[in-house]
Amino acid sequence: MKNGIHCIDSLGFERHGDKENSLFFEEYLVRLLEERDRMGLTAMIHEIDALMITVDPGHSIQYIAELALMTPYHYLVTLESESHWTHVLRIDLDSPDILLREVKDPNLRGIFRSLNEVYPVGARKPNSRYMGEILRVDNLHDVVSMQQEREFHFFSQDEIRKLEFPGNLAVSKPSPYTHNIVAYLERAPSELRVYSLGMSVINQDVQAAYQAAKDLQKRLRIDDLLMPLDHLATRVYSQNREVAILEYLSWTSYYFWGAYNIKDQNSSTNVTKSVHGLAESRSPAKVFTANNTPYFVNHLEKLPSPTETFVRNYGPRLHHMAIAVKDGERDGIEHIDYVVNAIAEQGKGFLLDVIGSKEQGLKQIFSNASEHSSLIIEYVQRFGDFDGFFTRENVAALTEAAGVEEGVKAI
Ligand SMILES: [Fe+2]
Repeated sequence: MKNGIHCIDSLGFERHGDKENSLFFEEYLVRLLEERDRMGLTAMIHEIDALMITVDPGHSIQYIAELALMTPYHYLVTLESESHWTHVLRIDLDSPDILLREVKDPNLRGIFRSLNEVYPVGARKPNSRYMGEILRVDNLHDVVSMQQEREFHFFSQDEIRKLEFPGNLAVSKPSPYTHNIVAYLERAPSELRVYSLGMSVINQDVQAAYQAAKDLQKRLRIDDLLMPLDHLATRVYSQNREVAILEYLSWTSYYFWGAYNIKDQNSSTNVTKSVHGLAESRSPAKVFTANNTPYFVNHLEKLPSPTETFVRNYGPRLHHMAIAVKDGERDGIEHIDYVVNAIAEQGKGFLLDVIGSKEQGLKQIFSNASEHSSLIIEYVQRFGDFDGFFTRENVAALTEAAGVEEGVKAI
């Protein structure tokens, strides 16, 4: 203990992977995390308390039904404000909420819409995007002033009111590298999560769609197999890989777990995790994927480029949310296959077959991108005591499958 702050060493974790980083990255990783620990920021910033997603007018009810079937999320309440409905989805207080925001007026213009509009596929659903994470902090005022001293920018209270974000959040300006925001919510672990926004109502149409999807999930016997989020994967431009990671570590109390070069797909997968020793179910890992080379050398190198192509089409953004599947078998079938078969029978598509094996330690699959949010759901089942994050073969196959997805081929 030093000045009442637990001594946390954000650099004291084993490094994984084979992706080489620049000297710039290695130098500033050390300097940024040492300073973050020394200032006490690491100790004051905790788990991911919620994710924020926005969808276009008319899409939130169907998206809630989709999430209610495909994930363990429940519909809790709707916060109604002048221009938005913000639906609160929850599993329990041991895993992050989802705040799903629907823009009421298709003509509403704003900063989040403008982030979509310069990208050919992103522009087709101008209000649909993942916005970012809300992190729990001990002391909002102290964390915000320390970050402001470090030249990190926040929306003003007036802007938060106009944007119709919960008034008890401090919200960062969107990252130039990921286009995501980071918000802080002051809350003690024993306190409930409160989002100060608009009027709290139970929307009967949402409730009916949610209940029908949950009943179906139960009838399909998959409700007890789906677990909370495992990781969130963001795709960024090739040249922004290192800065996106370092910036995210500066906003959070995450550390750099390591990065793998997925040479087959000319891409790398970079993983960051909470330093507080929390399970992923409580604070999902944040993954950054980037092409190894920028698009403008493709005509020289003739290398595959699915990640860079995705970013050029959609803009930098969250690509998928991974839901953990309980280890085990049902009716002689591994749970992940049981879940995927049941969901596929309801007409939901997947980008590829389930890949990996029990022997390799994990099996994974990507769903089609949601027509409501453009987000893919990944299912991941880990076997026995496998504690690795992924296998290179699986990631290569997943990246390739996402690359042939319709829409990614727009340019
Ligand atoms: Fe993933």
